[in-house]
Amino acid sequence: MMTCEFKITVIVENTAEPPFQAEHGVSLLIEYGKRRILFDCGAGGVLAYNAELLGIELDDLSTIVLSHGHNDHTGGISLFKQCEIWCATNVEAPHYSLHHGQPVHNISMPDTALASFNQQIIHRVQAFTEFDTGIWLTGPIPRLSGEDTGGPFYCDPDGICKDSIPDEQAMLLDDGILIQGCCHSGIINTMEYCHREHPEIAVHTVIGGLHLLHADEERLYRTAEYLRQTKVERLYLMHCTGDNAVEFFRKSLPYCKICTPHTGDIISPSFC
Ligand SMILES: [Fe+2]
Ligand SMILES: [Fe+2]
Repeated sequence: MMTCEFKITVIVENTAEPPFQAEHGVSLLIEYGKRRILFDCGAGGVLAYNAELLGIELDDLSTIVLSHGHNDHTGGISLFKQCEIWCATNVEAPHYSLHHGQPVHNISMPDTALASFNQQIIHRVQAFTEFDTGIWLTGPIPRLSGEDTGGPFYCDPDGICKDSIPDEQAMLLDDGILIQGCCHSGIINTMEYCHREHPEIAVHTVIGGLHLLHADEERLYRTAEYLRQTKVERLYLMHCTGDNAVEFFRKSLPYCKICTPHTGDIISPSFC
C-alpha cells in the first residue's frame, strides 16, 4: 500500500472570501504522490479566475475525474483540451431537477462542455478501478443500505423518469481518504461499497459534498451513527452538504474534526 501526503486545493466551491469567487459547484485539485488530478470542473464561471489566483496553470493539468454529469461539476470542461477524462458511463446523459413550484432546471453537462468533452480521451469507469497506484475510482455505486438517496431529479423535463444519477462515482485514496462530488449515492452506500471492495482501507477522512441539504433528522442521525461506528476522524464538508448537517455532525461527533473549506483553501493533514 502506498501512503502519501495529500494536498487538495479547493478551486471552486459554493463559498469564497475575496479575492476568490464562489459559484455553486465543485472543483478540487488533488495532489497525491506524484499525481495531479482535477476532480470535477465546477460550473465553468470561476474556475479559470480562481486557478490563476492560486497559481494553478489549467493547461498543465491533463487528468480530469468527473464525479457525475451535473452541470455544476462539468461546466468547466470547456476550458480544457487534450485531457484524459475518467468518468462513468452515461455521464453526458440528460439530467433535470424539478423543485415544487419552480421552473424545470436543466442540470445536464452544458453544450459547450459536451463539445469539449467529445474532443478528449475518455475512460469509462464501469467498476471499482485502480486508475493509478493507490488511487481508486468507485465507478457506479450500489445503493444497498436503504439510505434515502432520493431527490427532485429526473431524466426528462416532464418529470416522468426518476433519475438516480447512476453516473456518479467517488475517489478513494489508499491512505483512507474518500473524496465526493455531491454524494447523491449516499455516504453510507459509498463507504459500504469501498469497504466491500477494499476492506484493508479504513476510511478516516471524507472530503466533499454530502448532499444532505434536505435530509431529515432520521437520516442525519443514521449517517452520524454510521460515521461514528466506522471511526471517521475528519470531515471536510462543502458544496451541497447543508449547514444543518454540518451542525448536526458537530454535535453528534464531538471527537471528529469537522471543517467547511472554502474556495482557495488548501486541505492537507494540517488544515484546520
Ligand atoms: Fe453538485
Ligand atoms: Fe449533483
